[in-house]
Amino acid sequence: MGKYQTAYEESIRNPEKFWGEAGNEIVWEKKFTKVLDDSNKPFYRWFPDGVLNTCYNAVDYHVENGRGDQAAIIYDSPMTGTKQKITYREFLSEVSKFAGALKSLGAEKGDRVIIYMPMIPQAAVAMLACARIGVIHSVVFGGFASNELAIRIDDAKPKIIVSASCGVEGKKVIDYKPLLDKAIELSKNKPAHCIIYQREQAKAALVPGRDHDWVELVKKASPAPCVPVKATDPLYILYTSGTTGMPKGVVRDNGGHAVALKWTMKNVYAVKPGDVFWAASDVGWVVGHSYIIYAPLLYGCTTIMYEGKPVGTPDPGAFWRIISEYGVSVLFTAPTAFRAIKKEDPSGDHFKKYDLSKFEALYLAGERLDPDTYHWAKELIKRPVIDHWWQTETGWSIAANCRGIEEFPVKAGSPTKAAPGYQVVIADNEGKPLPKGQEGLVLIKLPLPPGTLPTLWQNDAKYKESYTDPYPGYYFTGDGGYVDEDGYLYIMGRVDDVINVAGHRLSTGAMEEVISKHKDVAECAVIGAADDFKGQLPLGFVVLKAGVNRPADDILKELVQMIRDQIGAVAAFKQAIIVERLPKTRSGKILRGTMRQIADGKDYKAPSTIDDPAVLTEIEGHLKNIGYGKK
Ligand code: COA
Ligand code: AMP
Repeated sequence: MGKYQTAYEESIRNPEKFWGEAGNEIVWEKKFTKVLDDSNKPFYRWFPDGVLNTCYNAVDYHVENGRGDQAAIIYDSPMTGTKQKITYREFLSEVSKFAGALKSLGAEKGDRVIIYMPMIPQAAVAMLACARIGVIHSVVFGGFASNELAIRIDDAKPKIIVSASCGVEGKKVIDYKPLLDKAIELSKNKPAHCIIYQREQAKAALVPGRDHDWVELVKKASPAPCVPVKATDPLYILYTSGTTGMPKGVVRDNGGHAVALKWTMKNVYAVKPGDVFWAASDVGWVVGHSYIIYAPLLYGCTTIMYEGKPVGTPDPGAFWRIISEYGVSVLFTAPTAFRAIKKEDPSGDHFKKYDLSKFEALYLAGERLDPDTYHWAKELIKRPVIDHWWQTETGWSIAANCRGIEEFPVKAGSPTKAAPGYQVVIADNEGKPLPKGQEGLVLIKLPLPPGTLPTLWQNDAKYKESYTDPYPGYYFTGDGGYVDEDGYLYIMGRVDDVINVAGHRLSTGAMEEVISKHKDVAECAVIGAADDFKGQLPLGFVVLKAGVNRPADDILKELVQMIRDQIGAVAAFKQAIIVERLPKTRSGKILRGTMRQIADGKDYKAPSTIDDPAVLTEIEGHLKNIGYGKK
């Protein structure tokens, strides 16, 4: 039996032994005596009686063990011309002082702090400072508009919000403070304090009594020590798009998270402590939480915070420059970033300019790695190109080519095999397992391994309803896919109303809620249509109220603006079609899946429950007029 098979089978047969051993790699304030508590199914708790501090393991431990002078973070911001190395010792000092600043404003263990920040080191300082004092952070992606931020404020009820005066997005400077002020105005649960990091690209006006200048506040604060927390205490809440306008507050605990992430650095990414590890993502997404911040720091690596894009900041050689300049061994990003590079530099001329001798492997996730992009990247870099599949909910890969255990030959289009701890099952709509080669729903047998979500923030009922009630005994991933004859898994896309635009997870339901508020709209549907560059793009279908005869272009422009204002530019909602009616079943359910198949040019069969098949022909005609459908 190969090394992977041995590890995998052990993780399934004897999870307590497997993860108990991984747990020895963490420093515990009080060592766990039990590995898994399954007494309250479907809620599982890992290391239930362990006590630790995540910040201690990610920062203090390294200073105490010889890494004080090693860079913890390298910040590179091409458009502001900033490059900065922060050693573990300096980082510890910044984090402890900021933790003290949070405490000076009354933050205590169990309180929530929202972090709405661009990709600057202060975002990492704020996250670790929260972890240090047992405060639960909730980072909100900077590309979300005020309304989305307000929804998260109302759910998490933070005592404090940490933000910056502005972000630098490609070549644009985006003022964050007006967005924050508007969000607080919209929210019902207003935070007592805001801490604002003033950047020189744009200074923000502070609200007296509520807003504090980061630098001034820190000057007055005394450093705070680590507060021991239970392994099962929440470390953070990360909101992610579900099928409605209300995002899901994915909870991450302290113990299982630290154990699992540290384990993945060696076993999935095959790196060593001291290596430079770069996840080119954003701290607002799960990839940013796990692989810009926590995993590389827990493992004693140097992590890179890059405030730039793969192209245009200033050119498509940006990634190669960073890898070469800082000696990156593993790059992790989304396939869409590589499609962007490929579009601007198809023959890889920029790649050839750099010394990339330390670069060992490229890992991609966030959306399906299409075979074309895989082959292009592989041919260019001539190093392993590893697709791995995961979700905000799991926090680390469900399926991967675990190179640190045993490297498998890559099959383009497949994230290889289930990672240890995950029992992946392909099932039909009734939950019956399907034979190899047949596409169905992707389920994971419970319990999920450590590091995955224990529940949703203060909403056990929604956790059950979304993930474990649909197929009892299993976690419902929301993805569809199949397993081939060799046991390789293929993830083909979401089976629900979640879409993936340039590696960003978005909800078509949330977009529909915004569009339906337009005064001229009677009803609407939004689908994710395949796009060569961004993977998917949202596409709206709008039925107008009777008697509305304003120019269609005006209405469409208003809808685009409404989505930008209420969800954010990141939704990339640019196209909608005005239609006479929407295809529905006789019970009134809109046939979004069938519309998506038509838009993507796939063969489709109208469901037997359809109300009027002629509507599909109308939709097909509309889509054809704007270049969608069968070519
Ligand atoms: N703050 C404010 N606005 C933001 C933002 C942020 N943090 N991130 C994105 N936006 C805005 C962009 O400026 C753009 O606005 P525009 O419509 O006015 O131009 C819009 O949201 C869409 O942004 P994006 O999806 O990033 O598209 P792009 O065309 O600017 O760049 C890529 C395309 C492929 C280069 C970029 O999407 C990318 O690097 N994707 C990788 C995604 C990723 O890392 N995902 C995480 C999983 S690994
Ligand atoms: P997020 O929660 O933002 O990480 O998005 C998770 C979703 O992205 C998954 O449910 C998948 O639909 C998709 N996804 C992420 N990684 C992959 C991958 N490697 N292959 C296919 N789909 C992926």
